[in-house]
Amino acid sequence: MAQLIGGLATSHIPAIGGAIHRGAQNEPYWKPFFDGFPPIHQWLGKVKPDVVVVFYNDHGLNFFLDKMPTFAVGAAATYSNADEGWGIPTLPPIPGCQDLSWHLINELIAKEFDIVTCQEMLVDHACTLPFKLFWPEHEVAPVQIVPININTVQFPLPTAKRVYKLGKAVGEAIQSWQSDKRVAVMATGGLSHQLDGERAGFINKQFDLQFLDSMETNPEWATQFSDLELVEKAGTQGVELLMWLAMRAALTAAGSGVRKVHSNYHIPISNTATGVLALETV
Ligand code: DHB
Ligand code: FE
Repeated sequence: MAQLIGGLATSHIPAIGGAIHRGAQNEPYWKPFFDGFPPIHQWLGKVKPDVVVVFYNDHGLNFFLDKMPTFAVGAAATYSNADEGWGIPTLPPIPGCQDLSWHLINELIAKEFDIVTCQEMLVDHACTLPFKLFWPEHEVAPVQIVPININTVQFPLPTAKRVYKLGKAVGEAIQSWQSDKRVAVMATGGLSHQLDGERAGFINKQFDLQFLDSMETNPEWATQFSDLELVEKAGTQGVELLMWLAMRAALTAAGSGVRKVHSNYHIPISNTATGVLALETV
């Protein structure tokens, strides 16, 4: 059986790609953000996942507002990036793990999740940048991926409760995958931020820290909130924290609990309160 070894989460702001490209990691603006990663690099070097299931939200590169799936699972052999217009370099394709994709798709549909299956899927900054952050030494991270897109772009969004259930079902499917691979789950997005409207620039440190804490001690905490309450508390784009909830719910399938490897919280990068987290299953 496959082994679900732990979870990763990070913010996914496009400007991070520019900073990596320019080698600006040690500049005063960027250092407090990039300093969150070395302890996680060390852990990844030790636990060496083979496959990463990535919960992320596409921002218009693969799915546009005319056709917006609530949940979509990748089943491609490779996932290409493309120019999104942020002025950051396009990254090389990431290899997919089709065997796990199809196992997840079969298990999720059997459990009544009406997902969209994507045998071709472009991946945007939300899926590509985290691999540059967690595996900075590699041109392409030494893993295969299964991307799972959760709509946080156009209302109606899936509820936090539903996202939690999806995450748990994904974790259970990973656990039942007939493979000797080591699997990690990853979430990208958040934490609090709002890019437009009257509250542009909105950040809520108190809520973010409570949410980060809940990842360790009380994983279902955020499921008490409706999507509109999450937007009120975390901002219109801060609702991306639903990915973190899916990642954490997946880990509950692994058994007894989690140990925090490392976390970091820093305000701001661009318009966003940034969070980074690694959890190991125990
Ligand atoms: C920013 C944050 C995001 O989550 C995103 O997808 C794009 C931009 C930002 O803060 O600039
Ligand atoms: Fe985003």
